Amino acid sequence: MDRKFEILEERILIQKINSTFVLNTEKTTYAFRVMETGQLEHLYYGAKIRSMEGHETAGILVERHAFQPGTNVILDPDHDTFTMNDICQELSGSGRGDTGEAAIELIFPDGCQTIDWIYDKFEIQDGRHDLEGKTLPGAHVLEEKQRLEENEKKTVAGVQTLNIYLKAKNENLTALLQYFVWEDSNVITRKLYLKNTGEQPVEIRKAMSGQLDFADHDFRLSSFHGAWTREMEKADMLLTSGGYRGGSRTGNSSADTNPFFMLARPSATEDTGLVYGMNLIYSGSHEEAISVNIFGKTRVLWGIQREGFTYRLDGGRIFEAPEAVMTVSKNGYNGMSHNMHKFVRDHVLTGKWAKKERPVLLNSWEAAYFKISESKLLNLAKAASEVGVELFVMDDGWFGERNDDKHSLGDWDVNKKKLPHGIKGLADKVKKLGMSFGLWVEPEMVNVESKLYMEHPEWVLQHIAEDHAEGRNQRVLDLVNPEVQKWLIETMSKVFSSGDISYVKWDMNRNMSDIYSPYLKKEGRPQGETVLRYMQGLYACMAELTKRFPDILFEGCASGGNRFDLGILSYFPQIWGSDDTDAICRAEIQNGYSYGYPLSCVSAHVSSAPNHQTLRVTPLETRFDVAAFGSFGYELNLADASKDEKEKIKSQIETYKKYRSVFFQGDFYRGRSYQGNLSNGYELRGNLMEWTVISEDQRTAVCLILQKEQVPNMQQLRLYPKGLLENQKYHFTNIPQRVNLKMFGDLVNTVAPVHVKQDSMTHNLLAKFVKPDGETEDLYAYGDSMMENGIPLSPAYSGTGFNEKTRVFGDFTSRLYFIQATN
Ligand code: GLA
Repeated sequence: MDRKFEILEERILIQKINSTFVLNTEKTTYAFRVMETGQLEHLYYGAKIRSMEGHETAGILVERHAFQPGTNVILDPDHDTFTMNDICQELSGSGRGDTGEAAIELIFPDGCQTIDWIYDKFEIQDGRHDLEGKTLPGAHVLEEKQRLEENEKKTVAGVQTLNIYLKAKNENLTALLQYFVWEDSNVITRKLYLKNTGEQPVEIRKAMSGQLDFADHDFRLSSFHGAWTREMEKADMLLTSGGYRGGSRTGNSSADTNPFFMLARPSATEDTGLVYGMNLIYSGSHEEAISVNIFGKTRVLWGIQREGFTYRLDGGRIFEAPEAVMTVSKNGYNGMSHNMHKFVRDHVLTGKWAKKERPVLLNSWEAAYFKISESKLLNLAKAASEVGVELFVMDDGWFGERNDDKHSLGDWDVNKKKLPHGIKGLADKVKKLGMSFGLWVEPEMVNVESKLYMEHPEWVLQHIAEDHAEGRNQRVLDLVNPEVQKWLIETMSKVFSSGDISYVKWDMNRNMSDIYSPYLKKEGRPQGETVLRYMQGLYACMAELTKRFPDILFEGCASGGNRFDLGILSYFPQIWGSDDTDAICRAEIQNGYSYGYPLSCVSAHVSSAPNHQTLRVTPLETRFDVAAFGSFGYELNLADASKDEKEKIKSQIETYKKYRSVFFQGDFYRGRSYQGNLSNGYELRGNLMEWTVISEDQRTAVCLILQKEQVPNMQQLRLYPKGLLENQKYHFTNIPQRVNLKMFGDLVNTVAPVHVKQDSMTHNLLAKFVKPDGETEDLYAYGDSMMENGIPLSPAYSGTGFNEKTRVFGDFTSRLYFIQATN
């Protein structure tokens, strides 16, 4: 990633040239024009192209029309040479010849559903302007506003705003499309507002935030799907007639389908070719609809999930849709990811921790689950402090009668049997051990078995007269209700003030069901507004609590990655990526997140072996190597760890701290991956995971190579680092590991003077005291030769041969390599 670029305040990012609007970031151009008939025609989105100043029209960008197009519907007799079906658009209408998907569906007071969006006027403003004058693209601007005219100016360097006002022909409805042009991260975001200028209510059925039309459909679509412990599996498909509809219907952004998705030319690789990335700043159910029409044009729409959604837009009111995010790079998937990473780091994350390196933590969940007590936790904390952990986190189980997941959510008073000295007592003792203290909460939920539910059954999203479908034995609070929001804010404020608390893990462990807001019923509003208004309520709570507790590091969580999105990241700078802590699975999950989100947003922990989710046994080194590429910590019973393990963990933490700034803020590149290598046909397709993270000054890099399965008789393997300076000399090293003799089983007899029975006491003793040196890497070369030729690694054990130069690389093993500029 080129970091040398400097933002020039006076740079023109948005231009209007005759009827064409041109939006330029550092490396991209986006263009659309006002058609002779008043609609907006989308012209171009891609790598930067020259300005069209001086041209009569946008010239080359505009498709030409000369005669009536077959049997298609034309707009009117005066404009009979084209059909809207064959026009790329900025905001597609409906019922006027375009038989593709409309961006917005609504029912006007007279029952009419036809919409023709006609351009009205524009404004170009320096800086970012939303209707509240806020300067961030956070989802906190999701609120219904009284008036469109309430602009209050604020400026962010390198950002310009283009406001495009449209009118629905023949109807009392206007739309505002706001484009924010983020120059340095090569991102364009777009917000959509609808204003009812009449008196009667308009029913909104669908309002997509993002729309991108393309002149062809030569694309590979990649979307990310999964489930609990299986988040972010990348699914690729080539677009064809018809298309794809993805998204979530769970009430949250979900692990089913992440809101981030990509479109790329089929020949694109990790490092070459045109790749688009799209996202949504929203945490509720969302939808992505990609369709190819009868002329082979592609329409991409993304926004709020339309199933279950209706919104009554009363006279004079404004509806505000979540912000859509888009970027494009001609430098492959890595190029696109760099844009997204920069955008998220610089413009989505907020607060003190956005730019601050995160402490190494130990979390009690997989160490103790619900069975916690002050003495047990302190035992764990003591072991943690001895190995260099900086933050001790008490997970679930500390409040009410919380001995399982059936009780006490909602009753946020400390369980005095478990913690006789309260949170303060525990936090103070943890502090004395030299660490800071954090805890787990799940504020949006209630167990039926709780005092809160007994007192306030009407505070829950449910139809009280009906049976309720359960999820993890809990129900969702009605955060649409301002009273519930107030309760949440005050209750959590009390918890967060109950001791010296530096970190909070904010969990949310069930999908919504039986969606029905008793509050909206009382207010006489449609139930189809529930999920959107819930998110507004949630953001209001998060905004207030992060304001009240600016020093706390907040981490989002939803049974792992069930709500991993830019809405949450607008308030909390990191999210627990998955409840799956198995290093082999985690590598793929984290690889998936890396397409759209920077490493620092994904928290990742080293857990015990066998792993609790897969029962797989992986080396401690592998678990560390993978977790280090995230906001890093441990989640295992350190108090029970052997001396040997504790020593290893201590040195892992030292290594992590040494390179923490590179992991945290460096540029991340994917290389080969389990899904096969998109760069070229290197060997061992699909068996490896290969990552590079490199400091901003390109002087220090850390690389990972992880292998799923051992391949026999395959000595040679090369590492292909990325992002190095071509003409810079670097030193390539590793941290040599001692070899565990037990890996060799009864092969030990080929060298042992006496016969050793496998797994016998002698075998165990031998392994304990005889630990041969592993391979050492020590090589100097220029960046270009490292990247182009690859770095040949020490030969792997391959069925024969073993000495101190051998890389013993069995199943599930990995290595970290370090590359340092020499001068
Ligand atoms: C969820 C989280 C876990 C843990 C438990 C506690 O499953 O994802 O990390 O906090 O809840 O109940």
